[in-house]
Order: sequence, then structure tokens, then C-alpha cells
Amino acid sequence: MKSYSIALIPGDGIGRDVTAAAWTVLETVAHHSGFAVTGTEFPWSCKFYKETGRMMSEDGIETLRGFDAILLGAVGWPAEVPDSVSLHGLLLPIRKAFVQYANIRPHRLLPGVTGPLRKENFDILCIRENTEGEYSGAGGRVHQGTREEVAVETSIFTRAGVERILRFGFEQAGARRGKLASVTKSNAQKYSMVFWDEITRKLAAEYADVEVTSYHVDALAARMIMAPESLDVLVASNLFGDILTDIGAAIQGGLGYAASANINPDRSAPSMFEPVHGSAPDIAHLGIANPIATIWSGAMMLEHLGETAAAGRIMKALEATTARGIGTTAGKDKTDTITAAIVAALS
Ligand code: IPM
Ligand code: MN
Repeated sequence: MKSYSIALIPGDGIGRDVTAAAWTVLETVAHHSGFAVTGTEFPWSCKFYKETGRMMSEDGIETLRGFDAILLGAVGWPAEVPDSVSLHGLLLPIRKAFVQYANIRPHRLLPGVTGPLRKENFDILCIRENTEGEYSGAGGRVHQGTREEVAVETSIFTRAGVERILRFGFEQAGARRGKLASVTKSNAQKYSMVFWDEITRKLAAEYADVEVTSYHVDALAARMIMAPESLDVLVASNLFGDILTDIGAAIQGGLGYAASANINPDRSAPSMFEPVHGSAPDIAHLGIANPIATIWSGAMMLEHLGETAAAGRIMKALEATTARGIGTTAGKDKTDTITAAIVAALS
């Protein structure tokens, strides 16, 4: 029987609840679909940092490299560890080390979920560059603590990096409704973003089946609210994609529904799947976190592993569950109730 080895990093706060829920669903669907998933759990988290001074063990990256995929819950417990330390010690190094350059986030309403907009007919796929750009981590501070202090944070855009994410965007658009929105701010940022627009135009010639439009990020943000049905695939830099996908999460009903995949398209290292939401310390351990975003991310993981039918089964079960009104109102249903309903809908 085919078997997939999955590294589980529940992380902090509700990350633990939602990873457990998604794992139950993944084991069930594997059982029904004739393959196996074996999970190896890693305790890497802010708690681990408090105990060891590190967010993950020293050989963490090398350990993870041997897995078929990674399922991550959430990282962060700002009351005890600054976010700039926890994220740069666990989540962000994994994305970079494994060249997970495409962060994919689907934004559409599940049946029964009412978003804040008076429309339901949108289906957006956001592709966010995930390894460079504004989050490259290049910079420094000088004269620290003095009145003369200077902080510099440099965005890095490489031709290879921009080209590969744009190609990925064109390909996704070609496989969907054929419309790509390339998002920049080239009226104000005259080097990196003009560079991005130029590469967009150059590649457009190779993807004749895709209609590409360049938008400025401010206008695109408004469009996601005013006319989301006019959008198909978005491709954006790290920072812009980060912000736009929170708008995407909002219009699909909230972060509890926002799934995401950090993909290494070349498959030279494992990809990582995680909900967009964080550790939500205010509701941690109450058993009321919505597991849907993580379960959906689990479906994206199976899709990536080539288990397309099983991924489809999860999505059908998810949709049948929300269509019954389960998991559609914040705080109403317990994590376990939602998970049990999805598991029941699988069989
Ligand atoms: C996300 C998160 C992370 C990011 C943070 C926690 C570093 O906001 O996945 O969207 O911006 O990449
Ligand atoms: Mn974000």
C-alpha cells in the first residue's frame, strides 16, 4: 500500500487543536482511499524555545527534508516570545530552505458560509511569492538605541525569483479561467516593481491562452471587495500577497476558512501546508478553533502528493458539512463537532 510520511508541526496555541483535527480527517480519508499516512510529530514551538533557546532543533531542516510533506498548525506566542523571533526561527526558514516559492491561497465561500460582502460568486486563487521580495530579511540597524539610529530593510527581487512565480501564476491561470492579475506598485516603486511588470509582459507572449492584467496593489485591494467576481488568479510579491490574502480570508468569511499551501513546484524538497491563521492565544485550548482552514490545507496536501481523488473527497465532505450549517458561525460549534461531522461525511 502506498504510504506518505508527513511531518506534523502543531506549533502554538490553536495550531495544536486544528492540526489534530486535520490529521483525523487525513487518516480517515487515507483509510477509505487505499493509501496510508504516517505522521511524525515535532514539538517545535514557542514552548520549545523557552526550554531550549531554539524554535526547532539544530538539525530541524535536515530532519524535515526526508518527509513527503509538512503539515503545520501555527507559530507564535507573543506574550512569551517576540513574533520576530518565533517566525524567523521556524516558519520562515522552512519556506526558504525548501524553496517553497509559491504560496497558494484559495478564496471562495464554502456553502452555508456568509461572507461580509453582498456577493457569493467569487473564486480567487492567490499566488504569493514566498521566499524573497519584501520579506527577504536583508537589512540591519545601526547606531542602535541612539537618536541617530537607522533601520534599513531591503527588498530583494531576483530575475529567477520573479520569473518562476509569474510562470507559476500563468500556469495556474491557464488551468482555471484563464485570467491572471499581476499585482505591483510600479507607479511608486520604480525599480523592483517596474522589473516585475517587465517580466510579466515578456512572459505574457509565451502564455497566449492567459489574459494578463497588471494592477497596482491599492486598486486591486479595493477590487477584491467591490468586484471580487472579476478576478481569477492573482500573483503578487511576498508582502502584497500577504496583505491581499488577509482580505481574501475576510471576504470568504474569516481566517477560519483560509487554507494555504507553501509549494516547492520542482519537488526538490517537501512542501508545507498550513492555515493562514495564527495561534489565536485568546481562544487557545478552548476547543472552539475552526479546523476548516487546516482540513482544507490537508486536502491541498493530498492534491500535491497526487492523491487527487482523496483531496476531492475531503472537499466534498467539508462542503457537505458547512452546507448543513456546521462550522459556519464563529464560536458556535466546537472543533471536535466540526471534525466529527466532516469525518462522518467522508464515509
Ligand atoms: C502568513 C503570516 C506570516 C507571513 C507571518 C506570520 C510571518 O502572516 O502566512 O500570512 O506573513 O508569511
Ligand atoms: Mn499573513
